Amino acid sequence: MEQLLHLKILEKRRETPDATTFVLAPEDERTYTYQPGQYLSIIREIHGREKRRAYSFSSCPGVNEHPAITVTRVPNGEFSNWLIQKTNPGDVLLTGAPAGRFLLPAKPPRRLVYLAAGSGITPVFSHLKALFAPPHLSPLPGFPADLPVTLIYANRDSLHTIFKTQIERWNAAFPQRSQCNWLFSREENAPNTLNRHLHSALFEDMLFKSFGGKPTGADWRETHFYLCAPTALMRMARMTLRVLDVPETNIHLETFVPDTRLPKRAIDTSKTHRIIVTERTGERTEFQIFSGETILNGALRQHIALPYTCKSGVCLTCLARCHRGEVEMDFVEQTRHEGPGALINTCIGYAATDEVELGFE
Ligand SMILES: Cc1cc2nc3c(=O)[nH]c(=O)nc-3n(C[C@H](O)[C@H](O)[C@H](O)COP(=O)(O)OP(=O)(O)OC[C@H]3O[C@@H](n4cnc5c(N)ncnc54)[C@H](O)[C@@H]3O)c2cc1C
Ligand code: FES
Repeated sequence: MEQLLHLKILEKRRETPDATTFVLAPEDERTYTYQPGQYLSIIREIHGREKRRAYSFSSCPGVNEHPAITVTRVPNGEFSNWLIQKTNPGDVLLTGAPAGRFLLPAKPPRRLVYLAAGSGITPVFSHLKALFAPPHLSPLPGFPADLPVTLIYANRDSLHTIFKTQIERWNAAFPQRSQCNWLFSREENAPNTLNRHLHSALFEDMLFKSFGGKPTGADWRETHFYLCAPTALMRMARMTLRVLDVPETNIHLETFVPDTRLPKRAIDTSKTHRIIVTERTGERTEFQIFSGETILNGALRQHIALPYTCKSGVCLTCLARCHRGEVEMDFVEQTRHEGPGALINTCIGYAATDEVELGFE
């Protein structure tokens, strides 16, 4: 059911002491389709258990010949260390299909504002490549060539700042429309840089400056904001934007760290629910799950391959539309009850009715 792909590593390129870019190509040389801001899941079997991790594309379709991901090493991290230290050009990775909703708006906005920290620049870089592409390569037909873009980019120091040189080149090439506010928490005296941690007042100040000091209501309403940073920083930024009356629909978040604090329900094998799933291909599958078991886990237990990556409600690989019945989703801070029409995460979704019908879009 799930579409899996084999991607060959064509090239490994070191970006910083901790981050490496992997240029990839489908093993069977088929065309590879994805959108700026999406990610792929790398799948490995480790000690008989399948594990997955998501990596955002740092490349941009149309601009780069091949898709690429950029991986930052996490101390003791299973996948990031294996990818950076143990894989070589010519090796083949098993991956899920491109997924994710950290996408540029369909219609050109008035301005785009990005907040990235550390490896959070990766999906943002893919957007920036699309936005600053020469018109004949641009994957964004209809976007004006003078659309202003503000980037607020926080790192520990210049040495660990991924894609710094290319971002500086854009700032120099498009001084009227490209601004980058650099923040280094552990490096003093770097030119054009604040040696500070970002906080709400500073963020608000940077936002006001990006609008020339006096933003109007329309500026806030018609700008889209993209955040990819540690959870606490994104929470602060989102709250600041909401206070400034930015509509929730204009705030886009990408979370890299799986939430390990998810509540678990007790499984009751005496009660079952009937699940009907329609794939993107139109193929229909029916199966039963136990009460207290997530829809995804119930499917995987019976070797029904539904798409997933994080299994913790952050990556959105597992999103499906509810067509019939009701589903409860257990997030860390709340349980959300959803019915027909809603998008639900099967990885944290429990059937709340005897039958639930879902469709992958
Ligand atoms: C939608 C999405 C897109 C992503 N895109 C990228 C990307 O472009 N580049 C990239 O490098 N990573 C990206 N990630 C993170 C990536 O999927 C892995 O979580 C990360 O590489 C760590 O995996 P690991 O197996 O090395 O570490 P694990 O073995 O999973 O974890 C080791 C320890 O590190 C902690 N940890 C896990 N992830 C992180 C993290 N990101 N930062 C800090 N601590 C962490 C864990 O809680 C654990 O304590 C993305 C994640 C998501 C959900
Ligand atoms: S698998 Fe990541 S949100 Fe469900």
